[in-house]
Amino acid sequence: MQISLIRPDDWHLHLRDDDAMASVVAHTAERFARAIVMPNLKPPVTTTAMAMSYRERILAALPQNSDFTPLMTLYMTDHLSSDEVIAAKNSGIIKGIKLYPAGATTHSDAGVTDIRRCYPALETMQKEGLPLLIHAEVTDPDVDIFDREQVFIDRHLQPLTRDFPALPMVFEHITTKQAVDFVRANEGRLGATITVQHLLYNRNAMLVGGIRPHFYCLPILKRESHQRALIEAATSGESHFFLGTDSAPHPQHAKECACGCAGCYTAYAAIELYAELFEQVDALERLEGFASLFGPDFYGLPRNRETITLEKREWVAPESYQFGQDRVVPLGSGETISWQLVR
Ligand code: NCD
Ligand code: ZN
Repeated sequence: MQISLIRPDDWHLHLRDDDAMASVVAHTAERFARAIVMPNLKPPVTTTAMAMSYRERILAALPQNSDFTPLMTLYMTDHLSSDEVIAAKNSGIIKGIKLYPAGATTHSDAGVTDIRRCYPALETMQKEGLPLLIHAEVTDPDVDIFDREQVFIDRHLQPLTRDFPALPMVFEHITTKQAVDFVRANEGRLGATITVQHLLYNRNAMLVGGIRPHFYCLPILKRESHQRALIEAATSGESHFFLGTDSAPHPQHAKECACGCAGCYTAYAAIELYAELFEQVDALERLEGFASLFGPDFYGLPRNRETITLEKREWVAPESYQFGQDRVVPLGSGETISWQLVR
């Protein structure tokens, strides 16, 4: 069996830099026409000039004949100026500004300490129509890690949607039923990306029968009832829910250790894994909207015209891939995947 769909885009991706990036970028470029590239490098991408040079490095790392467009983002800090927001918008290459609460996740120590400090920049983004992309987790040590997303909704997303009624916002990598409900309650105002790991797995995959670090990402996998809510949302055909892998490669030794990094590497088979899930719930005919149509519609970009074809033919995910001087273990390594990209 084969299915064809309009070539998809990835609305949330970590490509890293230098030779690590060179090792992984082809996986994305083979499958996706465009990707929103996250700015959490070290140091973070905080200016248009930095984003332009990062974009050049991505383009230089692509295999010959790839047809892939990186959509760049800036990293929001307490000090982002309105002038920088306007420069970002006018550059034409920057499609959003990413808000990481300080300390929330990998390379986020330069993030925002108090969202009110960003209000001048947010005013300008609202005026310019430049989307705010949000890692929606509080970082307060007294909030349980499994509750950090829903507490962020109450403390920060409610006020943000109230204070900036015309600012386009993406609630990134939603992981809870509360997030699904909030996006629906703000229909037309908010987009939301959903990763494939949060659709395929819940926290049991990470914790039952041994601790499995390759399932550890942020926001962390939640309980099964949340997974079910996400599956229902992703396969609902509602246009505010769209594909964002949050594929986030780390070297094997940085995951398999006493204090492992957060991030799942899924770019190597991203669209195949989403197809797996959509097929499981008998919703393959809804995959194209989620993967290829709703994202560009939200961002006001043209839909892709070319198509890709997936074939139902089993293969086994490799144990690891080259990753710069290291190896990266993909999510699902050693497991059978039932779809293949037809090349
Ligand atoms: C991401 C990373 O490794 O850059 N990790 C993750 O678990 N998702 C950062 C992020 O998007 O939170
Ligand atoms: Zn991410």
